[in-house]
Order: sequence, then structure tokens, then C-alpha cells
Amino acid sequence: MTKTNLEPYLEIRDVSRRFEQFVALSGVSLNVAQGEFVCFLGPSGCGKTTLLRIIAGLDFQDEGQVVQAGRDVSRLPASKRDFGIVFQSYALFPNLTVAANVGYGLKGRGLSRSAIDARVAELLELVGLTELARRFPAQISGGQQQRVALARALASSPGLLLLDEPFSALDARVRQYLRSEMKELQRRLGVTTIMVTHDQEEALSMADRIVVMDAGRIAQIGTPEEIYSRPGNAFVASFIGEMNFLPGRVLGSGRIQLAGGLDCACDTAGFAEGSAVTAAIRPEHVKIGAAAAGEANRLGGEIGRIEFLGSVVRAHLGAGALGGASLRVDVPQGESERLASFAGHPLDIALPPASLRLFAGA
Ligand SMILES: Nc1ncnc2c1ncn2[C@@H]1O[C@H](COP(=O)(O)OP(=O)(O)OP(=O)(O)O)[C@@H](O)[C@H]1O
Ligand SMILES: [Mg+2]
Repeated sequence: MTKTNLEPYLEIRDVSRRFEQFVALSGVSLNVAQGEFVCFLGPSGCGKTTLLRIIAGLDFQDEGQVVQAGRDVSRLPASKRDFGIVFQSYALFPNLTVAANVGYGLKGRGLSRSAIDARVAELLELVGLTELARRFPAQISGGQQQRVALARALASSPGLLLLDEPFSALDARVRQYLRSEMKELQRRLGVTTIMVTHDQEEALSMADRIVVMDAGRIAQIGTPEEIYSRPGNAFVASFIGEMNFLPGRVLGSGRIQLAGGLDCACDTAGFAEGSAVTAAIRPEHVKIGAAAAGEANRLGGEIGRIEFLGSVVRAHLGAGALGGASLRVDVPQGESERLASFAGHPLDIALPPASLRLFAGA
């Protein structure tokens, strides 16, 4: 068979992993294209690190296969696979200089001393650490240590770069900076990359595709845009971004009734009449005041608590027609005065039909 660019670079086929009775991964299947940047995203304990370790051969699946560049590597030890890895803790050798850390994996490969030195110099230049080559890990900052770990992982020009929460030990500003730097470097090198994170903002801003994991299973795979705009289930909807959830049931085609009694128009495709559903709407899609005029699915309510979140302001709305359900609305920070002017007055609220998504079960 001839190879085409459409063939995946990495294939994970029906991988399962148990630790005694505990099922850490169950039937995980996934393809990663050559040069793609994929994020594994999910809550603590969902199996992200376990899956990454299986891809590296640092742990082994009980069932399923891992195929890399057309070769079944399922039973190969890590030393026989082609990857570079950055661990959460960086795991630098404290007794080696920055340069020696970066060059560590190049020793014993039959390269001359000068070839290793040249490659190390090139890598240090790549991550902007040339000046720090002679320092030891304890003499550089966390962000700089992170770059040493990255340079070390890239040293052998691996086909696959694996990153396990590479920014988690860093403060918010450094993290932000390194994110865009890492993304830029990945694009430039074209190295197929898998990054584990539990930070949705990191995944949304960096990934070509996100694999959302929940309790050892894949909950959804998609581009950041798809995952955010069209979450496939209530777990993904609640894990990525903010979401209002309103219980109700389907009245008929295109109509639901929310628990508080409000009838709403929305897309009910795939849901039987009478079935229990949860309607979901993002806070930025809820319309209030003049913006609600002319919209479908209108109801009356009032403004409760207001939270300042930086670029947006979030208001908690009360509305009889929603029963006990709470409803949050986000407006841009510049409109916060408009929000305050609603206090103490009846407020028009609208839930635009196109912004409502239904999930099974109330
Ligand atoms: N060697 C092991 N023995 C027993 N249980 C394990 C082992 N390794 C992982 N687990 C369990 O498997 C589950 C998945 O672990 P994993 O480290 O993959 O989670 P994670 O998604 O990376 O979480 P975090 O975001 O906290 O790093 C956890 O419940 C963990 O306790
Ligand atoms: Mg982990």
C-alpha cells in the first residue's frame, strides 16, 4: 500500500488499561495526523497521563494497539520508540549544566563530541537559552527550566513530542508567554505533538484538535471551535467554558417546556416528544434589556448578584419562569454600567433558539 498524507501518523486503537479493579482507560481510539498539535484535556484522574505513558511505552495497555508511522509499537519499550517527552516536573538532572541536560540523550548514539556540541548549541538557540548554557538547573527560573526540558525533548529530532502539563508549575504570565512560544516553535518544526493539560484555556488556545476525556473514556474529539460551540454531551458542555443548564422536557417538534413552565423554541432533532432534556446556553448568549427585544423565548426576571471577572461582567438573574434554575449572563466589561441600571427594575431576558442546545436527561 502506498503512503498518503491522509494516513495518520499515530493511531491509538481501542486501548484499555486497568490497575487491578480500577479501569483507568476504556476503549480509547484516536488518530493523530502528521504535524498536528493535539491536547488531551480532562479533569484530574481521567487518564490523560496514563494514555500519554502508553503512547511513550512507559506503561503498557492491557488491550488495544499503538501504531506510530505505520509501525505497531504496542509492545516496544520506550527506548525503542521515537518520541521526546517533557514531564510536569521537568525532571532535569540537578548535577548537570543546562547544556549537559540538553545533550544528555545524544550521548551513546555514535555522534562525535563536536556534533553533539553543535546540536546542543542549535537547540539552546532555538529556545533562547544560549546565555545560560553553563548554569545548573537550580540557578535558573522555572520558565527557563521548562525550556531546557523542551530542548532536551527535541534533541534527537523525535517524530513525536509528548508534553505532560508542561506549564503547570509556572505563574500565569510566564505560562501565557511560553504557550505562544511553544505553539510557534511546534509550527515551525512541524513536529507531531500531544500535550496533556487540565487547563481548558491552554487547550483552546494551542490545540489543532482537543480530545476531551472523562473517567477513562473519550468524551469528544474536535477542533477548539467545535468543542466550544457544539459540545457533544453535557459533560463537555460543563467542562469547557461556562454554561447554564435548564431542565425541561420536549413538547413536540421544535418546542420544549422548561421546569419553571416556560415554553421555548429550539432544535429538538433526535429527541422524542415527552423525553426529559437539559437545555444549555452559554452566559454570553443570553440577551437582556433592549438586546432581548424581538428575540424568541422571552421571559421576565430581575438582576441579582453582579461579578466583575475582568474583560466580562457576569450577572446572576432570577426568573420565575425558570423555576429554581439559576441563569448567568455575561456582558463585556464596557457595558457594566448598563447592567447596574437594571437593578431593581423588571428585566427582559431572551434565550435565542439558535443558542440553546439540548442534552438527554434532566
Ligand atoms: N500505577 C498505578 N496504579 C494504580 N492506579 C493508577 C496508577 N496510575 C494511575 N492510576 C490511576 O488511574 C487514574 C488515571 O490516572 P492519570 O495519572 O492518568 O490521571 P490524569 O488524567 O493524568 O490526572 P491529573 O490531571 O491529576 O494528572 C487515576 O485514578 C489514578 O489514580
Ligand atoms: Mg496527569
